[in-house]
Amino acid sequence: MRIAIDGPAASGKGTIAKGLAKTFNLPHLDTGLLYRAVGLTVRDVPELNFEEEAIAAARSIDPSQLDPEKLGRAKVAKLASRVARIPKVREALRDYQVNFANQPGGAVLDGRDIGTTICPDAEVKIFVTASPETRARRRADQMASQGYDIGYDEMLRQIESRDEADRNNPAGAFYVADEAHLLDTSQLDIEAALRAAIAIVNQAMAGQPGSE
Ligand code: C5P
Repeated sequence: MRIAIDGPAASGKGTIAKGLAKTFNLPHLDTGLLYRAVGLTVRDVPELNFEEEAIAAARSIDPSQLDPEKLGRAKVAKLASRVARIPKVREALRDYQVNFANQPGGAVLDGRDIGTTICPDAEVKIFVTASPETRARRRADQMASQGYDIGYDEMLRQIESRDEADRNNPAGAFYVADEAHLLDTSQLDIEAALRAAIAIVNQAMAGQPGSE
């Protein structure tokens, strides 16, 4: 079973994807980490060489060496969003994601373009969302618990600016896939959000051919 989870920053998609992977015993790939790793590699590269070096970094990335803790920072997210606009970066990261999605037994992937581009024939697609205010509050609290005091207002600004960049990414495919189930987590805590996602998966699988 292939499960594609998409959604904006801090919508809860990562936690939901991990929870689904555990529940259904599937491998999980957080595809944002790939873009973050490329962004971090080229953080000090001057504008003139930025694109070329980002493409080279994407082509030589080692997905087994991704460190979620190091890559989780807000500054890295901005760099990720920047390299994600380069078509050849997306192309270089594509095969790894497609192969991960299509491994025997299936997988859970989360990102921005999983249901639209990476795995358009996933058995289950969920688009996780929440209001920008809820997402900023969550992410500010999460950062504070890790010792980074960014503050709610600044976090809201960053989230809105990244939403805008991702929505208008000419190289991306960040829109809700036709068959995606919408899951708004604004009013849900993580347990309730995960329960809702599990229910969506169970329901979708019950409707698949051969499930009777
Ligand atoms: O999901 P996360 O916040 O870690 O993603 C960081 C950035 O990487 C996003 O804001 C987006 O610009 C980019 N991204 C993407 N396509 C994906 C995953 C992430 O463009 N599948």
